[in-house]
Amino acid sequence: MGDVRYNFDEAIDRRHDPFSFSEKWGTGAAAARRHGVSVITDEHLALSAADMDFRCATPILEALRQTVDHGVFGYSTLEGNSRYLRAIRNWFAARDGWDIDLDRIVFSNGTMTAVNRLVRTFTRPGDSVIVQPPVYPPFFSAVEGNGRKLALNPLVPGDDLHYTIDFDQFEELAASKRTRVFLLCNPQNPTGRVWTAEELARMAEICQRHNVLIVADEVHGDLVRRDVRMHHVAQVAPEVRTVTCTAIDKTFNVSGIAACNLVFSHAEDQEKYQAETCLVDPSPFAISTVIAAYEEGEDWLEQLLDYLDGTIDLALEVLDEQLPDIRVCRPEGTYALWLDFERVARRRGLSPADLHSLIYDDAKVILRDGAEFDPEHGAYFQRMCVATTRQLVSEACMRIARVLNN
Ligand SMILES: Cc1ncc(COP(=O)(O)O)c(C=O)c1O
Repeated sequence: MGDVRYNFDEAIDRRHDPFSFSEKWGTGAAAARRHGVSVITDEHLALSAADMDFRCATPILEALRQTVDHGVFGYSTLEGNSRYLRAIRNWFAARDGWDIDLDRIVFSNGTMTAVNRLVRTFTRPGDSVIVQPPVYPPFFSAVEGNGRKLALNPLVPGDDLHYTIDFDQFEELAASKRTRVFLLCNPQNPTGRVWTAEELARMAEICQRHNVLIVADEVHGDLVRRDVRMHHVAQVAPEVRTVTCTAIDKTFNVSGIAACNLVFSHAEDQEKYQAETCLVDPSPFAISTVIAAYEEGEDWLEQLLDYLDGTIDLALEVLDEQLPDIRVCRPEGTYALWLDFERVARRRGLSPADLHSLIYDDAKVILRDGAEFDPEHGAYFQRMCVATTRQLVSEACMRIARVLNN
């Protein structure tokens, strides 16, 4: 541990601070529409978007201050900046034993920007892309919004909501001539699964056999529980064609900086992507942040991981005591809880819309509707992001329990 003790219990006002610009804590009409409520008041608690309410690591703040002090923010470049690339490589080598080739790293100003570009580069209109619902909703639009077809391989929930993969159906989809890309989410948002080395190897082997490119969104990869090991698909199956999306954004709570780094397993895929994509270099702020985060941010992350584990345990305890009817599985990774309210809703005769209204309007807790992640089976689910103070998480759980037990 370093010298700084971070205080994750500090409540930071992201709603009113004029320099916050927070999407999650917004109160405008557009935000209300997006969340399906008539109005968002100061009483509403936001546990919706996957960002954290915590202040950044001190070394990142310091690096950003120094960047500001330079005072000139013209076009920036990574050319000749081997420190940036080495910081990325050293991070993954030290934490996960994943060996990255520096020449295979490509910057992107955002993960979904990259995923959309990858889909366009490696498929043609009408081709299919494998997606495993329930999953982060922009995965669907990255396929359909680009005129491609969804090849759905629904994850299979166990009784305890521990999700697994239907490999037979996965293979059927991969074998189709029109299937060219598999969008993998690991750790999986919203189910919290961190795929084991065996699961990854099996999916990779199938993709390789059918020449399907794996686009692996691993942006939650640093946020796994203390008793869980993160495996990167590119590490488990280095011979298979993969593009891995890594980012400091989730790990260090700097999504607004938008610094994603892609790692290609095969030079030919990287060349094709670079030839067909209008690439941008990171801003000076992104360059400074990536270097500071990966070189000096580990101490903050270690303290954060302890805090998140404790918060997740607390939330599960409160929910189990107050609402034993809901189903939820302790997530192996991410800070999202994937909550199944179906039993309690059916017992009380509530439709999904009634459930939404009770939670969002009456309890004044803003989550994210499960149907967005899984249009077919998600109607009674809600995703709750708990990367905020324990006090706020506990208050949100108590409020939801109150309106549902009423
Ligand atoms: C799995 C996953 N991928 C991508 C993103 C978004 O990444 P970006 O903001 O870099 O596009 C999120 C944000 O919640 C996410 O959960």
